[in-house]
Amino acid sequence: MKTLIIFYSVYGHIYALAQAAAEGVMIAGGEPVLRTVPEILSPEVLQKIGALPAAARGADLPTATPEDMVEAGAILFGSPTRFGGMCAQMRAFLDSTGSLWAKSALAGKVAGTIASSNTQHGGQEATHFSFHTYILHHGMLIAPVPFSTPELHGSDVVCGGSPYGSGTIAGDNGSREISEAEKEIARRQGKFLTEVAKKLGQTV
Ligand SMILES: Cc1cc2nc3c(=O)[nH]c(=O)nc-3n(C[C@H](O)[C@H](O)[C@H](O)COP(=O)(O)O)c2cc1C
Repeated sequence: MKTLIIFYSVYGHIYALAQAAAEGVMIAGGEPVLRTVPEILSPEVLQKIGALPAAARGADLPTATPEDMVEAGAILFGSPTRFGGMCAQMRAFLDSTGSLWAKSALAGKVAGTIASSNTQHGGQEATHFSFHTYILHHGMLIAPVPFSTPELHGSDVVCGGSPYGSGTIAGDNGSREISEAEKEIARRQGKFLTEVAKKLGQTV
């Protein structure tokens, strides 16, 4: 069964979490398929904001098509926080899925979300929730990160992620790299999402 991981990343944090989630998908015996979404910023703007080279942020991967979603049993969406919600690139992609909605083509698939923000309370949870209307309107089921994940507990170290989805805190200037604990949360998320989809009888 395929687990599609659709993400957008400028500085590599979401890409790194998407890769960790892909490891979890494989642990569950699934086939991870990583796809990015079409860019809407010009190369000049990307250069001005200091975007990483394409290969370092997954922008060299194929862009997702709505059909890719039909061909997966589970779907993980990953987006950096933009003013407390998902990025416009992801929203534009999701806005292109109306024909799937009209056919209930995604109903019954299992979905989860990955988020990242510069600051600890800059809207990571709100970013997860900004996906939920899309997921629910499509009839998909939201899989949490199991709260039994040890890395979700404790408050001694800075750590992104919650039962709403995996995540990382990029730091005020975006220079913080994702921690092993944050990667493990994403791994668990990819594994659990895939296991749930399989249990529900998803086969594609
Ligand atoms: C236009 C814009 C809006 C942003 N809004 C927020 C925000 O609301 N809260 C926050 O903590 N970080 C915010 N950030 C920081 C991004 O969330 C951060 O760069 C991103 O999580 C890093 O992920 P990436 O490395 O995958 O691109 C914003 C960045 C940009 C460019």
